[in-house]
Amino acid sequence: MGPYLGGIAIQTYLDEWVLNKAKESKRREAQGSEARPARLVRLRPAGFPLRDMHRSYPINVNDEKLFEIYAKEQWIGATVANGDYLFDQRIIPDFAFQVVKVLPAGPVMITENTVISFMKAELERLGRVDAGIGFGEIVGHEHVKRKCKVVIRYLQDPKAFGEWAPRNILFFGPPGTGKTMAAKALANETRSALFLVRATELIGEYVGDGSKKIHELFRAAQDSAPAVIFIDELDAVGLDRSYQAVRGDVAEVVNALLAELEGIHENRGVVTIAATNNPGMLDGALRSRFEEEIEFKLPTERERLQILEGYARRFPMKVGVDLREYVKRTEGFSGRDLKEKLLKPALHKALLEDAPEVSQAHLETALKAIPGRPRPPREMFS
Ligand SMILES: Nc1ncnc2c1ncn2[C@@H]1O[C@H](COP(=O)(O)OP(=O)(O)OP(=O)(O)O)[C@@H](O)[C@H]1O
Ligand SMILES: [Mg+2]
Repeated sequence: MGPYLGGIAIQTYLDEWVLNKAKESKRREAQGSEARPARLVRLRPAGFPLRDMHRSYPINVNDEKLFEIYAKEQWIGATVANGDYLFDQRIIPDFAFQVVKVLPAGPVMITENTVISFMKAELERLGRVDAGIGFGEIVGHEHVKRKCKVVIRYLQDPKAFGEWAPRNILFFGPPGTGKTMAAKALANETRSALFLVRATELIGEYVGDGSKKIHELFRAAQDSAPAVIFIDELDAVGLDRSYQAVRGDVAEVVNALLAELEGIHENRGVVTIAATNNPGMLDGALRSRFEEEIEFKLPTERERLQILEGYARRFPMKVGVDLREYVKRTEGFSGRDLKEKLLKPALHKALLEDAPEVSQAHLETALKAIPGRPRPPREMFS
């Protein structure tokens, strides 16, 4: 549908919409009698049924308590289930909110006692699972996979673990070794929501913003459980005080994180994974909250071959070279280096030349172009 809807198109669309709304309320009436009272209904702003009706969108809520009262007044008595839409009748008529979570599960009725909460558009985007990557695609890292098994079990059946639930795990190791990839695989394989944030994104503009953001993040994850919160580049905020000219906003983030990691709130089905390249430089109090530290090492010779061959198989053209030749010469390369600095530029060169296949010359050019070989030790603050 284009931005401009002809008269007829609008007519048809609205007809359909009204019809659906009518059907929907019939269904609700039928279910109403059996629906249990809702403990929680979480909404996300979904927009208007017609485009271009309003420009200031997405919207956000200033005062959650006030929103709750406002929402309850309109929708008390309504029966809702996951995925349903509720339409605002007052401030922005026909603005739709979608139900993203109800407790208890199934159709529930909004009552005086229902907690109605609002999921920010940005958090809602975060919680979507990035389809694809599974552990099968991660080369090596056998101990990582072994350790993640417990987490997988937990996310599949949080109740079985009770007080023995895994909560906070630290992934550490050089850049490009698959930490983010492993977190994605974990979420994918357990169909958990993934909340992937960089630690620096948690710093707010104003005092108090940071801790609020963190609190919202953990709450959104809790409401979407099972969920994985992945905090990348933890060292960017969690540096030991001796390395850090203590900035108020950073200290605030660390303190808020400490509070959430401590799990004061009941934390069912949420695992927090933080990643860092420099665990030794982390703030001691912060580091101690992670019950498990899992190391990601640079790939061995055999693993480098597997990574090279694995990605080369997915090339859109043939590779006319024995990749074993490159195993010794890529000592110290991470999985990312192999893929992004060796294979990808070689492929691009071959494509540009309209070559029939990726040849030794292409790979040699790519290898030579890699800046700073042999690789210097990683800068501590990069
Ligand atoms: N062991 C591996 N097996 C397969 N692919 C890998 C492996 N390690 C890295 N890669 C490739 O490198 C890419 C980058 O890895 P990833 O982003 O997970 O690294 P990281 O450890 O999170 O790095 P950083 O510390 O810089 O955030 C992956 O998306 C994947 O394509
Ligand atoms: Mg990463």
